[in-house]
Amino acid sequence: MAQMTTLGQFIIEKQADHPYAKGELSRLLRDIGIAAKVVNREVNKAGLMDLLGQAGSTNIQGEIQQKLDIYANEQFISALKSGGECCIVASEENEEIVMLDTDVSQDAKYIVAIDPLDGSSNIDVNVSVGTIFSIYRRQSTEGRATLQDVLQRGVNQVAAGYVIYGTSTMLVYTTGKGVNGFTLDPSIGEFCLSHPQMQIPKTGHIYSINEGYYVHFPQGVKSYIKYCQVEDDATNRPYSSRYVGSMIADLHRNMIKGGIFIYPITAATPDGKLRLVYECNPMSFIIEQAGGRATDGKTRIMELDVHSLHQRTPIFIGSEEMVSKAEEFMAEAEAEQVSVDLVG
Ligand code: AHG
Ligand code: MN
Ligand code: MN
Repeated sequence: MAQMTTLGQFIIEKQADHPYAKGELSRLLRDIGIAAKVVNREVNKAGLMDLLGQAGSTNIQGEIQQKLDIYANEQFISALKSGGECCIVASEENEEIVMLDTDVSQDAKYIVAIDPLDGSSNIDVNVSVGTIFSIYRRQSTEGRATLQDVLQRGVNQVAAGYVIYGTSTMLVYTTGKGVNGFTLDPSIGEFCLSHPQMQIPKTGHIYSINEGYYVHFPQGVKSYIKYCQVEDDATNRPYSSRYVGSMIADLHRNMIKGGIFIYPITAATPDGKLRLVYECNPMSFIIEQAGGRATDGKTRIMELDVHSLHQRTPIFIGSEEMVSKAEEFMAEAEAEQVSVDLVG
């Protein structure tokens, strides 16, 4: 068998390539990898351990928390706390930022934003769920870090990644020098490099969107969906529709096969549903690093200003040519709307 590279070995090997090559970022990534293994263990046996179902509480977004949402949140926070390289955790499951108050972590240089369990509605039905994380350098130089240190634009990310608890468990991450994927080998309990230098195809024939909300979509999205469904041999249309309901699973598939994922504004979610800080920015960093594109239909996600921790944004993300095409439909619909308004 060929020599395997473990996540730990890989992180150390690549450490020197990074501008912050002091080992702190490596330690942080390693801590996240360890917490991911613990969460993976629980996700795998959730049905046996009374870990399925709702916890009886709601998070700041008014969403029902699942027991595993809470468990995963606690595991990542506790790993980051004991690691000592992170001063603040911003999590989907906590209304406010979590200050890590140990002696070592008070002055730590990194901020971690996290969606501890993405796709929670799929937990009880044995469909893939995941974890998304994003890492920033603290900007303030005096006193304790604050919320302002968290509200940085996505372009400032120093690393981002996701873990998919799927048919196999994978950890995929970037530090801004390409994207690498590691598959958990349960027999040795290690993430092993299985997908070096991942590249998303420039185009594909899968579109992922919750079409149940079709009537509530903006005109540009409706027109793009119709475009996906039209017969055209030259562009391999009609495309296939695939929607898991776990953003990570949908994006991971599209990353490998090519495709577009859209969560637009809808009547019920006028700002979009997905959160900028711990869902859209990290996934955009990863997809861009793999050669793809991520915008809100107009503006690059990673250049959006961040005003609040749980801010939402519409997102168009995936294969570059497909996202650009969807943007053309958005621009066209907007121009038509402007001319209707002018005439009216
Ligand atoms: P979370 O479980 O972290 O709240 O995220 C769920 C998200 C995302 O993973 C998924 O793509 C989307 O919500 C599904 O929403 P709809 O059911 O509205 O399509
Ligand atoms: Mn999520
Ligand atoms: Mn979540």
